[in-house]
Amino acid sequence: MLTQSNPDPLASYREDLALRKDEGRLRSCKRVEPISALDGESMRVEVDGQSAINFSSNDYLGLTRDERLREAAIEAIRQYGTGSTASRLVCGTNALTQSLEASVAAFKHAEAALVFNSGYQANVSILQAILEAGDWVFCDKLNHASLMDGCLLSGARWSRYRHLDLQHLEERLKTAPTQARKWIVTDSVFSMDGDYPDLAALVEIAERHGALVMVDEAHATGLYGATRNSGLVEQFGLSDRITLQMGTFSKALGGAGAYVAGSRLMVDTLTNKARGFIYSTAQPPAVIGTALKAVEVVQQDPGPKQRLWENVACFERLAKEAGLASRLSLPLQSAIVPVLIGDDRKTLQVSQTLLDAGYFAQGIRPPTVPPGTARLRIALSAAHTQPQLHGLVGALTRILN
Ligand SMILES: Cc1ncc(COP(=O)(O)O)c(C=O)c1O
Repeated sequence: MLTQSNPDPLASYREDLALRKDEGRLRSCKRVEPISALDGESMRVEVDGQSAINFSSNDYLGLTRDERLREAAIEAIRQYGTGSTASRLVCGTNALTQSLEASVAAFKHAEAALVFNSGYQANVSILQAILEAGDWVFCDKLNHASLMDGCLLSGARWSRYRHLDLQHLEERLKTAPTQARKWIVTDSVFSMDGDYPDLAALVEIAERHGALVMVDEAHATGLYGATRNSGLVEQFGLSDRITLQMGTFSKALGGAGAYVAGSRLMVDTLTNKARGFIYSTAQPPAVIGTALKAVEVVQQDPGPKQRLWENVACFERLAKEAGLASRLSLPLQSAIVPVLIGDDRKTLQVSQTLLDAGYFAQGIRPPTVPPGTARLRIALSAAHTQPQLHGLVGALTRILN
């Protein structure tokens, strides 16, 4: 409705979208459809009607189609129905949810765990709950948006250090009053860069300065660790020195939702203060059943993880032979391969050219990444075949040269 004081209250939305379009930053969803039966070639998809091999998915272990997870989801529906009916504290906690939380606590070698509906919701809610006025929070500059949003909403004093630069972190820590409570918050594997900090050194610095640590293992859960495959915290042997380990079921674990693991004190605090936990309907049983099975599968079946790291090694070898080592910042530290392009529009063009060649790697632009660092983000999976990796490297070599 038009009013006299503001003749077009929608104008700024229109202008904002027009500006984004001009800058090559307009976002819209592509339709991505699997085109083989559930048991078939899982990474072949149609992207807005174009057939391609999917290198954009975070299904690192190929578990989204795993028979064991699918059966667990169906069994949960059979037993509990389709919805959870209320928030966790009202009547949305059943035996399946309690088993999942117990199993995550054991997986992460923690006293207790709490499940959230998504990683985004978990991070925002956790940080809002644990950070109080007068606290200081120190973040890697490239932390995931959900961690940044949680810090912003918390009202705590927020300080950012250069990506992976632990010396800079220590300088920042020295600027905080000694008596202030300090938290250091970092991704373990960075979602757009595929690298990770020296967590052991980070924890030493934290302990020297009396700071608590929260780590986001969204892109590490199921992929690192010699015994349980629970993430980088396990790989670094730091389970009992990190106050909060957060992670998701939505990536390597092939489902949806998130967890946080820590002491009983911290989990009770979050149960009482994390608004996204308190004020949202619990996840449907199928999602909980899938996550419970996935946590079991990644601990008991080494096959998918082995295939993933073989694929990472194969991609790396092929890329080196093709002369792409410096272009792709090899060696890789994870299954994420950023291909830095810089310019936003050019990134979209390169992504489209690659799609025309039959390979789908999404172009990532600001604000997801800093201005001037637009890139293709290639994600490797256990479900890729070696001929698909050969094909991708061949296409990349032609396009990037
Ligand atoms: C590091 C990191 N944390 C949290 C999230 C959010 O998790 P979810 O997709 O489950 O909301 C993501 C990605 O989606 C992520 O990359």
